[in-house]
Amino acid sequence: MADTLTVTDNRTGKTYQLPITDGTIRAADLRQIKVQDNEFGMMSYDPGFLNTASTRSSITEIDGDIGILRYRGYPIEQLAEHATFLETAYLLLHGELPNADQLTEWELSIQRHTVVHENVKQFMEGFRYDAHPMGMFISTVAALSTYYPEAKAVRDPVNRKKQICRLIAKAPTIAAFSYRHCQGYPYNYPNNKLSYTGNFLAMMFKMVEAKYDPHPVLAKALDILFILHADHEQNCSTNAMRAIGSSEADPYSALAGAAAALYGPLHGGANEAVLKMLTEIGDVKKVPEFIEQVKAGKCRLMGFGHRVYKNYDPRAKIIKRTADEVFAVTGRNPLLKIALELEKIALNDEYFVKRKLYPNVDFYSGLIYQAMNLPVTMFPVLFAIPRTVGWLAQWAELLDDGEQKIARPRQIYTGPGVRDVVPITHR
Ligand code: CMC
Repeated sequence: MADTLTVTDNRTGKTYQLPITDGTIRAADLRQIKVQDNEFGMMSYDPGFLNTASTRSSITEIDGDIGILRYRGYPIEQLAEHATFLETAYLLLHGELPNADQLTEWELSIQRHTVVHENVKQFMEGFRYDAHPMGMFISTVAALSTYYPEAKAVRDPVNRKKQICRLIAKAPTIAAFSYRHCQGYPYNYPNNKLSYTGNFLAMMFKMVEAKYDPHPVLAKALDILFILHADHEQNCSTNAMRAIGSSEADPYSALAGAAAALYGPLHGGANEAVLKMLTEIGDVKKVPEFIEQVKAGKCRLMGFGHRVYKNYDPRAKIIKRTADEVFAVTGRNPLLKIALELEKIALNDEYFVKRKLYPNVDFYSGLIYQAMNLPVTMFPVLFAIPRTVGWLAQWAELLDDGEQKIARPRQIYTGPGVRDVVPITHR
């Protein structure tokens, strides 16, 4: 009887014992609950997966009630302080932090793949002059599958590792090219002498100077932001990566789908939406009026609230500290005043307190990006670069998980019953 759930079906009076493992029952165990033998059996209904675990995972742990985020057991605060983004990427993909030799080898295996085929550059040049960089990023990542057809062999571990390195290496290059395209600037090739984020900043901002030295504080701040965004367990885009990956599509196609899921304003597009919101508010004096509009349901306070965190998002705390370091170099972003005032009012207002709405990762990240001269349209792309690592770690875990099958939810059909087609002349 221990570790079981007793369910009585009041339609039939029958009682069932369902095993409980890790505080969970298996949805398929509900299928034995039927009124008639020839019925399909009971299902659970869970739009938006509010209470459904889709996988067992050993990558990222979140305790949203107390605001904890850990990668492979390591608290996000310690990783942000003591590790680099590429060390964190290694950790997420391999399960352990690298030693010095492993890190050197890992960095080299990424650097080997930073360049994209010249033809990819020409392909990107075909986009409209004002194309949104995220649209370019998504499409170009998808196009990479045509360059690496061998990536279809997703069950081959050596091949899989190569595609993982390619994607992590090329994501910043494609991202920077998409920015240069919409600015009308020539594209910069990668410089492997620089760090992962230093190289990205150089590809973004180098103009005619012979040598571009990214500011070390800004490169470090971006590295921290990348660590914070690297993974976040079963969120919307990771779920998309896993769903596409479950059909054994190649990782470029799957990752393009994940990036598309990230693009929406309720997910990775939120940082862009925050900046738009702060700009529209425009003045600290207008904050109370805006809060009233939010409470009246006319709009949302973007950058607030989270499906899992019902406490301060731990990433937002680290970002707030990082913002001070960046502003010491770049000067204070004038929108910060409005953001701080919004946070102050919201954290003390009953509407937000009752619903446990706190600032999430996107509330302050946009202010840092803007201070670093990164345009608002690049914000979701800046989320997609580091999340590439999380998507790939989750994809690899899925492929090695013997319990996983092609993702295929059920539905409750609510349409008409069977009826006959009437020829068009009689309709
Ligand atoms: N502003 C105002 N009210 C809100 C907000 C908000 N940002 N978020 C949630 N609520 C209210 C919502 O109206 C509802 O109220 P009621 O119970 O009266 O109907 C209640 O809080 C619960 O909201 P929900 O929409 O059921 O919660 P959810 O878990 O489905 O949505 C969310 C989570 C992140 C989509 C939502 O909080 C939101 O839209 N936030 C703004 C967008 C944003 O910042 N997204 C970034 C998420 S963090 C980065 C990432 O992982 O992508």
